[in-house]
Amino acid sequence: MLIDMPIRPRRNRKSAAIRDLVRETDLNPGHLIYPLFLQEGNRNEAISSMPGCQRWCVDDLVKEAGEAHALGVPAVVLFPRIPDELKTPGAEECYNADGLVPRAIKALKAAHPSLVVITDVALDPYNSDGHDGLVAADGRILNDKTVDVLCQQALCHARAGADIVAPSDMMDGRVAAIREALDGESFTDVSIMSYTAKYASAFYGPFRGALDSAPKSGDKKTYQMDPANAREALREAELDESEGADILMVKPAGPYLDIIHQIRSHTTLPIAAYQVSGEYLMIKSASAAGWLDEAKVVDESLIGIRRAGADMILTYFAKDFAKRYRAK
Ligand code: PBG
Repeated sequence: MLIDMPIRPRRNRKSAAIRDLVRETDLNPGHLIYPLFLQEGNRNEAISSMPGCQRWCVDDLVKEAGEAHALGVPAVVLFPRIPDELKTPGAEECYNADGLVPRAIKALKAAHPSLVVITDVALDPYNSDGHDGLVAADGRILNDKTVDVLCQQALCHARAGADIVAPSDMMDGRVAAIREALDGESFTDVSIMSYTAKYASAFYGPFRGALDSAPKSGDKKTYQMDPANAREALREAELDESEGADILMVKPAGPYLDIIHQIRSHTTLPIAAYQVSGEYLMIKSASAAGWLDEAKVVDESLIGIRRAGADMILTYFAKDFAKRYRAK
């Protein structure tokens, strides 16, 4: 017996071809940014807290980035592990022109001129306190003094050839200060991708293991945002936009899809979302145990982030995804 029902949504799902026609969101390697870890020396090292990821020496970093780029990934973002002996309370190594990051930027741009090289601007890998900012004797994070150092760090990356600097520190006023510093040296073409809504998240745990960059004392709650807050993210977005950010980022991604969506409707700027180390690790470990189908879960997690409103996604799965996309 046929029910009298003229409206049947399933008609738009009746075949793969129809589903292709009505699909609302697309995802291809061109939407992805590949975060890469690097270290001194000429050896790579597996990262125990992030199975499947390595800390690359500069030569192999260039190779890995080149392979991802050849598969259609437009950009990489760099995270250095700094040897303990170079970490200081003032984080001076972060603007050493001969440091690991500037050397890596030069090598990447020389080998792959069309690859977009993004750098992380924050002090935590360089700072003996493990904080994104400078720490006063009483434990407080010194906002304005930190911003001065971040400007030097951003300039150091720009001089080495970075295309985009990405301040991940969450200090107040850093976007305006970095823009002014860059423009002051005529780096008007260097973009700022601001970590706009970066939450104080437990999902960063595996990343801090990868870089030995966990805070020595305290937590990051006086600068990173409270996971309970959404309006505050809009306030940060308005500030970053007015200070001259080119791209706004939300981080983590999966647990903060509503934030991506809200910022999307408040700005005309492009939005990036960072699928962070803990999100990566949850999928990796559940798949290694055979409990989830890794490829399918990765695709679904990324399309969800795109659907929420992200133009681009930073993900440790970038190269894997691009490989699979190519094979399809
Ligand atoms: C540091 C920084 C962090 C991440 C990116 N930049 C860690 C933190 O803020 O403690 C996390 C990325 C990840 O977990 O994948 N400024």
